[in-house]
Amino acid sequence: MKTCCIFFLYLAIILQHCFYFSVSSSSPLLLPLSHSLSTSKHSSSPLHLLKSSSSRSSERFRRHHQKRQQRQLPLPLSSGSDYLLSLSVGSSSSVSLYLDTGSDLVWFPCRPFTCILCESKPPPSLTSLSSSASTVPCSSPSCSAAHSSLPSSDLCAISNCPLDLIETGECNNSSYPCPPFYYAYGDGSLVARLFSDSLSLPPVSVANFTFSCAHTTLAEPIGVAGFGRGRLSVPAQLASFAPHLGNSFSYCLVSHSFDSERVRRPSPLILGRFVEEKEKRVGADDDHKEKVEFVYTELLDNPKHPYFYSVSLQGISVGKQNIPAPAMLRRVDRNGGGGVVVDSGTTFTMLPAKFYNSVVEEFDSRVGRVHERADRVEPSSGMSPCYYLNQTVRIPALVLHFAGNGSSVTLPRRNYFYEFMDGEDGKQEKRKVGCLMLMNGGDESELRGGTGAILGNYQQQGFEVVYDLLNRRVGFAKRKCASYWDTLNQS
Ligand SMILES: *[C@@H]1O[C@H](CO)[C@@H](O)[C@H](O)[C@H]1NC(C)=O
Ligand SMILES: *[C@@H]1O[C@H](CO)[C@@H](O)[C@H](O)[C@H]1NC(C)=O
Ligand SMILES: *[C@@H]1O[C@H](CO)[C@@H](O)[C@H](O)[C@H]1NC(C)=O
Ligand SMILES: *[C@@H]1O[C@H](CO)[C@@H](O)[C@H](O)[C@H]1NC(C)=O
Ligand SMILES: *[C@@H]1O[C@H](CO)[C@@H](O)[C@H](O)[C@H]1NC(C)=O
Repeated sequence: MKTCCIFFLYLAIILQHCFYFSVSSSSPLLLPLSHSLSTSKHSSSPLHLLKSSSSRSSERFRRHHQKRQQRQLPLPLSSGSDYLLSLSVGSSSSVSLYLDTGSDLVWFPCRPFTCILCESKPPPSLTSLSSSASTVPCSSPSCSAAHSSLPSSDLCAISNCPLDLIETGECNNSSYPCPPFYYAYGDGSLVARLFSDSLSLPPVSVANFTFSCAHTTLAEPIGVAGFGRGRLSVPAQLASFAPHLGNSFSYCLVSHSFDSERVRRPSPLILGRFVEEKEKRVGADDDHKEKVEFVYTELLDNPKHPYFYSVSLQGISVGKQNIPAPAMLRRVDRNGGGGVVVDSGTTFTMLPAKFYNSVVEEFDSRVGRVHERADRVEPSSGMSPCYYLNQTVRIPALVLHFAGNGSSVTLPRRNYFYEFMDGEDGKQEKRKVGCLMLMNGGDESELRGGTGAILGNYQQQGFEVVYDLLNRRVGFAKRKCASYWDTLNQS
């Protein structure tokens, strides 16, 4: 009887202060990611979708570098505009947030909400603070993290905490809340405040989850679930409650090729994904056993952009020709410059100009010899080079060589060569066209100090990408993500 009471008391404490599951506490957590194109009402042509995706990708990447130079601020890349994750805090209904491995903050647009320069953007999905939400004190390490590591003493002075309490470390309650902060992405910004409340990621709930509420943003109508390496990110906060959920996660992005049917399939996000030595999986049909093997590469530390998942790229092969990567992609320097960021928030892979040109030249020397260049399509798609295709299309293999023994990733053709019909508008005769789906990120000199390249989500489709934070590495395994979702969802 007594032990029983103690047990229930103990349970009650756990429920109040920690973390509870309605599932086995050691099992991973499966969540669906939806593609933002899946909710767009009007069905755009592939060319239109392509153009808007390509201009968005380069906009972010460039702005990131320009802003960084002007302000010397460690800017996250983007607000992650392609994949949405649903979650809710307190008793408010769930909202869809962009999943962004390129930043660490978790924020929601809160009522009343003003979004400046949002005319061409999707409508905001708003939330209200629950009565259970509490402010985060100025002395909290989370407050410092939100304020770009400004010391607690400064933050508490701003929130009018008296000097004697600053000295004794007693500015630790709701009388002295963390001041509002400014946060900028490559393509937008916001002012927000920190709060703490329970986070619900069904079937899991985390008490005391720190997030931000924004009433005003610039060009950011949709909130963001930061999955970067900083202390405010979802995995970092999960890790302090349930290490097995926060120390490793993966996603498997369903290959869509801008096909409206395929973008509607959910992509699995798995929190607490620990990979077995050699994984084998039985496919939907037993005759097609899918052997799943992860290829890993080490995570690099970035002193200026600590939330980035930066890796080292040694080169790219086009067919049998290996093109060595420039030094800036092989390492991150003391100023945080260089490396390749594995990002869920940018669509297309961006490479520094010279390297990009070498890859394109090699590609063109093979494909351009057989196929007519589709110059007319290039400006309207934002991609290049593009070619008119006929029956016999021979596209060279593209392999990314990351640092590490055997850390090469062969991309499926559809991850770097997009084929579609041009002339669907009826103005021209219909012709089949194919474009190389890599982008020029600009001159190396412009990129100095920022990331050297980005591995975009388009190139990550059809892979399970695992972020193994415990072992400080990122892994890639080729996988059929749509059927992976079905399998995981059944078991
Ligand atoms: C604030 O800090 C003081 C001194 O460290 C401590 O006695 C007190 O319990 C703390 N209060 C809260 C609400 O954490
Ligand atoms: C916060 O702490 C200060 C100093 O310990 C105390 O004077 C004040 O009443 C506390 N406020 C609240 C709301 O608990
Ligand atoms: C809630 O989290 C904050 C920061 O993560 C921490 O300072 C605080 O002590 C926690 N409060 C409770 C009740 O666990
Ligand atoms: C495809 O086009 C290329 C050049 O445009 C030509 O050399 C080749 O014979 C064509 N193949 C077929 C099957 O039409
Ligand atoms: C790389 O891996 C292979 C097989 O996994 C092994 O035989 C070889 O010794 C390794 N090379 C280095 C430099 O670790």
